[in-house]
Amino acid sequence: MKHLLSIDDLGGADGIAEVMKLTDAFVEVSRRPIPKVPTLRGKTVASLFYEDSTRTRLSFETAAKRMSADVMSFSVGSSSVSKGESLRDTALTIEAMGVDAIVVRHRSSGAPHRVASWVGASVINAGDGWHEHPTQALLDVYTVLQRLDTLVGRHVAIVGDIKHSRVARSNVAAFTAMGATVTLVAPPTLLPPSLDGWPVEVSHDLDAVLPTVDVVYLLRMQRERMTEALLPSLREYTATYGLTRPRSRLLGPDAIVMHPGPMNRGVEIAPEVADLPQSTITEQVSHGVAVRMAVLFLLLAARPATDDTGETLAMTPELEALVPEVVR
Ligand code: NCD
Repeated sequence: MKHLLSIDDLGGADGIAEVMKLTDAFVEVSRRPIPKVPTLRGKTVASLFYEDSTRTRLSFETAAKRMSADVMSFSVGSSSVSKGESLRDTALTIEAMGVDAIVVRHRSSGAPHRVASWVGASVINAGDGWHEHPTQALLDVYTVLQRLDTLVGRHVAIVGDIKHSRVARSNVAAFTAMGATVTLVAPPTLLPPSLDGWPVEVSHDLDAVLPTVDVVYLLRMQRERMTEALLPSLREYTATYGLTRPRSRLLGPDAIVMHPGPMNRGVEIAPEVADLPQSTITEQVSHGVAVRMAVLFLLLAARPATDDTGETLAMTPELEALVPEVVR
């Protein structure tokens, strides 16, 4: 596999399970006193973010550093994009510096696919428009497996602004590939105009769905992606679709509450619900680092690192011997 642009690139349940197995190994590394391995020494990972991000960007950069890769970071605000440079020219400039992977976030669906067609490096989609966010789905699958052992036969409700959500698209693909059934719960204005080909049920009644689910997955109102008024008011949304404390009592004792972040406490989730033991929100973030280590490993570790002359920089036994015992 050269790129990770969508969940389908993993080829279904077996591919996802392979990432989960690798993630176990990197969770173990992340728990060490010195959570670092030399696996990607000599490789360079660049992050190319055209949209704001807190956790996804920090998570990828932490993952790359824990594997001893060099990290290059690019943000639109402080780059030549503000001088009018195109996505293609920016991507080619980064590539010319000699990178092995480019992690791309962009407001347009398909932007990472375009970058992948222009550069020789591996491209990882870190969120493109309303389209996909595959590593988010992988860390969510990992989190469910940690709490509930399996997704087979599990019922997942994804609640909120599905229409504008790349997380919803990737998570529907990943959860259903792993054997779960998915119900989308949202007002009609926040559902995509067509659900043809989505292997999901739809409901507009959260109270009726909650007692039947193993996982309730909440999404933020993505107001920055809304071009029209799709909701009468946020207060009305919360009253009907928010996971309030009383509503959370409708959940079964083993059901879990998930959210990809950033949360708007008091809108889609009550502040105290976010902090319940049933909530996996901080686990999702910490699993995110290990999942991204697994993805970088799959894409990069099998290929030799190169410098800008094309020479292989693979570890020699002499270099190996210099690596302190503790980082092995
Ligand atoms: C999401 C995103 O940017 O797609 N956040 C994330 O990566 N954890 C969801 C969102 O913006 O609401």
